[in-house]
Amino acid sequence: MSRKKLIAANWKMYKNPSQTDEFFRGFLPLVFGHIGHSERRQYFGETDDTVNLRLKAALEHDLTPIVCVGEVLEEREAGLTEDVLRRQCLRAFHAISGKKASKLVIAYEPVWAIGTGKTATPQMASEAHVLIRGEAAKAFGDEFATGLRILYGGSVKPDNATALMSEEAIDGALVGGASLDPKSFAAIVRY
Ligand code: PGA
Repeated sequence: MSRKKLIAANWKMYKNPSQTDEFFRGFLPLVFGHIGHSERRQYFGETDDTVNLRLKAALEHDLTPIVCVGEVLEEREAGLTEDVLRRQCLRAFHAISGKKASKLVIAYEPVWAIGTGKTATPQMASEAHVLIRGEAAKAFGDEFATGLRILYGGSVKPDNATALMSEEAIDGALVGGASLDPKSFAAIVRY
């Protein structure tokens, strides 16, 4: 089963409404030709007004994330990545088991790669994603795990996006710093 890639921007509190408008005015023309017509309508609408409405709708949803990022550098260097991820998966899956898990998206973000300019290699990220998917299969079953999207986050930039996204186990990206600028985020979306 092939999962559709998802590229997400993690803006935190960086943009106010007028900066957000400005971002989309620059961003949308750069990606319009690169996504299908139905997605264009689904995600962006056809006009600036619709964009604003959709953004608002997303903000008003209850999208509380369960945060348990990946391993710190010392843990990776000590060969503890797998243990840490297993433990975090257990905790996170326990927290959502009572809720509807069908819309779940997971981002694996090794702490040492967030905002540092150090990216996990495609192979490192891929190995972590395979492990997380295995844990999801144990918690929720194989079918669920096969459809689950697992994004990679941590210094994703235009020049490393293609290699990361080429991995079958990586279903998209959670982009921090590089998502703030319309040109660099569009370049990642167009990888
Ligand atoms: P980064 O941030 O892309 O700047 O490393 C990742 C994140 O904020 O999720």
